[in-house]
Amino acid sequence: MAKFYITTPIYYVNDVPHMGHAYTTIAADVLARYHRLMGDDVFFLTGTDEHGQNIERVAAEKKITPKEYCDTVVAQFRDAWRTLDISNDYFVRTTDERHIQAVSKFAAALLASGDVYRGQYKGWYCPRCEAFFQPEELLPEHLCPIHKRDCEWTEEENYFFALSRYQDRLAHLVGETDFVLPETRRNELLGVLRQGLQDFSISRERVHWGVPLPGDPKQVLYVWVDALLNYITAIGYGDDERTFYRYWPADVHLMAKEIIRFHCLYWPAMLMAVGLPVPKRVFAHGWLTKDGQKLSKTTGNVIDPFDLARRFGSDAVRYYFLREGAFGADWDYTESAFARRYNADLANDLGNLLNRTVQMVVRYFDGAVPAPLDETTQADGQLLKPAEALRSSLERSLEADALQEVLIQLGSLVVEANKYVQVTAPWELAKARKNGDEGAARRLATVLYNLMDVLRLLGYAFSPVIPRKGPELLAQLGIEPSGPGSWNDQMRLGSYLPGTVVQPGGVLFPKYEA
Ligand code: MSP
Repeated sequence: MAKFYITTPIYYVNDVPHMGHAYTTIAADVLARYHRLMGDDVFFLTGTDEHGQNIERVAAEKKITPKEYCDTVVAQFRDAWRTLDISNDYFVRTTDERHIQAVSKFAAALLASGDVYRGQYKGWYCPRCEAFFQPEELLPEHLCPIHKRDCEWTEEENYFFALSRYQDRLAHLVGETDFVLPETRRNELLGVLRQGLQDFSISRERVHWGVPLPGDPKQVLYVWVDALLNYITAIGYGDDERTFYRYWPADVHLMAKEIIRFHCLYWPAMLMAVGLPVPKRVFAHGWLTKDGQKLSKTTGNVIDPFDLARRFGSDAVRYYFLREGAFGADWDYTESAFARRYNADLANDLGNLLNRTVQMVVRYFDGAVPAPLDETTQADGQLLKPAEALRSSLERSLEADALQEVLIQLGSLVVEANKYVQVTAPWELAKARKNGDEGAARRLATVLYNLMDVLRLLGYAFSPVIPRKGPELLAQLGIEPSGPGSWNDQMRLGSYLPGTVVQPGGVLFPKYEA
């Protein structure tokens, strides 16, 4: 059995969960669910990043301890993931005792690697990014290029990691392998590599809220080093070798594009330094904006996952965010586009296909799926060919993390099935059958079998994206949801048992009226 280890970034607790975080987490969830259906031994990890100066400061403002502050925000993240049906296998917190222990072990190994030295740090620091910037990277007035807020001039004695020694190995990893996708991100990193890598400091003197550096407790580990290590501490690095080696290296680290330097340069180099394998892939998707503006708590330009899930249903949220923008590109969210696509793709195309097909099975065959009695016509081929090809085309797209492609492929099969209803006009066939036309009777049975079989395929293949409505759709077809490893069987046409009794149910996706 193959294994599949997928991660999201661990989110900072200085913000409540919003649709930006949810976008990555939903994508990871969908990939995890497909891989489970395919029979892989899946480990899907998400969590929270809770250390650092920023959190220390926010907690102090609120007059509570950092941990108390973290607990309240973590509860909201857990709640958001429950609301969106996220099926993570583990939730890692950098304040977990287990994480802290393992981080200490890793830090000790890093210190012993020969790639760490003491030095003086001087530079501009953005506490929101928890990162240093070169003077030329700053906006005027020493503003952080990401947050457009003040950076602080910082001078202190730190420990440094000799990233520059990994220049050639990283250039190979990024430039010559499929380590980072999509292509645009690879080019960006190659640009950084061409400028020459700088060593970076891995400890902080003035921060207290973090993991103490082994051997020098006046320093805490730099929050990004602490955070990146979540990917190995959560699966047992340092305390459960068997589980660790069962899942490591990660199959894919998913994230948005602003943190690829940490993941594609710092992270593999640190792993190489202690002799661990590097992750197989980093996939960086684009940035989500709303009504053309950056998502921001300060300007109130947020997309609230709880609100959307309440009004549209969590399945619709999951569907829409993956369907609307190419996974990898930046795109803009507007509620009107969401409502339009919800009504068009889900309420109309998929919902109506289900209703009218099941209704026809009730009306013309007393609710029992007919056996296909006829030979295949050209019209049948128009529907069945793409349906047969669905499995391999989905597999190709999933392999490339091309999630919008997955949904386009599913959506075009829905459109094809609706066309098939128009072209074959079962109601005409039913009339002819009533008048004793044997050929029409056979055709009617075949057409409805094909439609039901394609609906079954769609309900199954859609389920990782819409884990509530997919099984509901199948239930209306009289089919139980199938478990892990059922992919090859269920993705084959013709496995619908004639005689299965349909269970017409409610409207799958009620029309949304603003
Ligand atoms: N704590 C670090 C990550 C450490 S991982 C070892 C961090 N946290 S964060 O809370 O800022 O989350 C950033 C991630 O949230 C992005 O990489 C992306 O996955 C997601 N997104 C947050 N806002 C987003 C958008 N507006 N658009 C798309 N994704 C967004 O960075």
